[in-house]
Amino acid sequence: MTKIKNICCIGAGYVGGPTMAVIAHKCPDVKVTIVDLNAERIAAWNDEDVNNIPIYEPGLAEVVASARGRNLFFSTDVEKAIDEAEMIFISVNTPTKTYGVGKGMAADLKYIELCARQIASVAKNDKIVVEKSTLPVRTAEAIKNILDNTGNGAKFQILSNPEFLAEGTAVEDLLNPDRVLIGGDNDEDGQKAIKSLVDIYANWIPEERILTTNVWSSELSKLTANAFLAQRVSSINAMSELCEKTGADVNEVARAIGMDSRIGSKFLKASVGFGGSCFQKDILNLVYIAKSYGLNEVADYWEQVVIMNDHQKKRFATNIVRTLYNTVSGKKIAFLGWAFKKDTNDTRESAAIYIADALLYEQANIAVYDPKVEKETIYKDLDYLESRESAQNKKGVVVFENSYEACKDAHAIAVLTEWDEFRTYDWQKIYDHMKKPAFVFDGRNILDGEKLRKIGFVFQEIGK
Ligand code: UDX
Ligand code: ADP
Repeated sequence: MTKIKNICCIGAGYVGGPTMAVIAHKCPDVKVTIVDLNAERIAAWNDEDVNNIPIYEPGLAEVVASARGRNLFFSTDVEKAIDEAEMIFISVNTPTKTYGVGKGMAADLKYIELCARQIASVAKNDKIVVEKSTLPVRTAEAIKNILDNTGNGAKFQILSNPEFLAEGTAVEDLLNPDRVLIGGDNDEDGQKAIKSLVDIYANWIPEERILTTNVWSSELSKLTANAFLAQRVSSINAMSELCEKTGADVNEVARAIGMDSRIGSKFLKASVGFGGSCFQKDILNLVYIAKSYGLNEVADYWEQVVIMNDHQKKRFATNIVRTLYNTVSGKKIAFLGWAFKKDTNDTRESAAIYIADALLYEQANIAVYDPKVEKETIYKDLDYLESRESAQNKKGVVVFENSYEACKDAHAIAVLTEWDEFRTYDWQKIYDHMKKPAFVFDGRNILDGEKLRKIGFVFQEIGK
């Protein structure tokens, strides 16, 4: 098979954007076009000032700058890009269904199906279609059916190539991944298609780290990886509550167990709860799949990871209310951080949103500061809150561009994202301008408790 020279990616989001930018950066002789229906998003990717691209990721602006206009292009012309590409990545969103069968659990595949139909109607010659979005196991079968039955006679090979990057470290993860996973058919054409994608990654990734499997293993591995990672966070968070009751220190426990090489030290940070676009969605999806095969014990086992996470968020909010003498009504609570983790401007499923919901329900006034999240994003997130009508929610939340202003006259501060800059603040100055007693609830265990207590704060952290 000749080498692939022209690829396109449908979906310029948190996965499609960085992934394809790195491919273009590393493969200068491959033309990479990223398309999206969202014209505003594409315009931002094309912004003259590369620092205005729509996704904040350390190192991403530099990677985009190195290839944009050379062999990396952003466009809204989906059909043209499909027509010209030999290989098409599907990287559109697969949110949890909000209606119908599987509501609240199953992945909504309507965007995937639309893509498949569009590819089928446009393609005049054979194409390799690569699933990049995380999909339920056996989705490739559905895509193949649509392509084969609605197309113009062109032949399609479907590959599964799930993306394991974590936000905040996307560029580093893409440049130096633990592994790349490619699933394809076992027959000759399937193997050829796999080889052409392996050849692209082999431009910068050692071949022993490029793993090939059948399509179903690849699809299920992605859900499994996320389920295992989320499970570790829920496991340590479950222990954090027990630590608080027993006098143990969750950081010490994490360190002690993490030194066991069978357990390992990563992903053992107790927190206010995991967020992000993947963990909850993928586990609920896994639960749904297990249930649909009648595997109720398997489903219940994994659902507990999400239940534990909900509990962790809830108890963090409840603790704030209880500690502030059982009322936060009319009190100013400053949120340091709104993103679901540091070094990203993504807020999907961020614990901060749920803590805000709970505190707004108690009529608190919330002052938010986040170094990278835009004000509009925060207000949009509030639209999804359950406790009140969105208009009322917005009244209870003010977004600040300066953290010291956000904390001024506050009764309490809640640290909800582990941004490095929070550690370096002048905490004495913050204390001086707060209402007394001044409370800090560190939902990320990043602040120096001893120092803060010495200043005079009532300081609480997770699992201690
Ligand atoms: C995750 C997977 O790591 C990645 O492989 C997959 O491709 C997508 O889903 P992401 O959601 O971007 O990536 O971030 P991740 O670093 O996994 O963090 C998820 C959430 O768990 C964050 O809210 C984070 O703060 C939280 N977390 C993580 C903890 O609370 N404690 C930890 O020890 C680790
Ligand atoms: P992820 O984190 O998985 O990348 P995002 O929501 O950030 O998810 O990105 C998915 C992108 O896919 C969005 O920008 C959305 O506009 C785009 N998209 C969804 N459906 C289509 C489609 N049929 N054609 C083109 N773009 C699409």
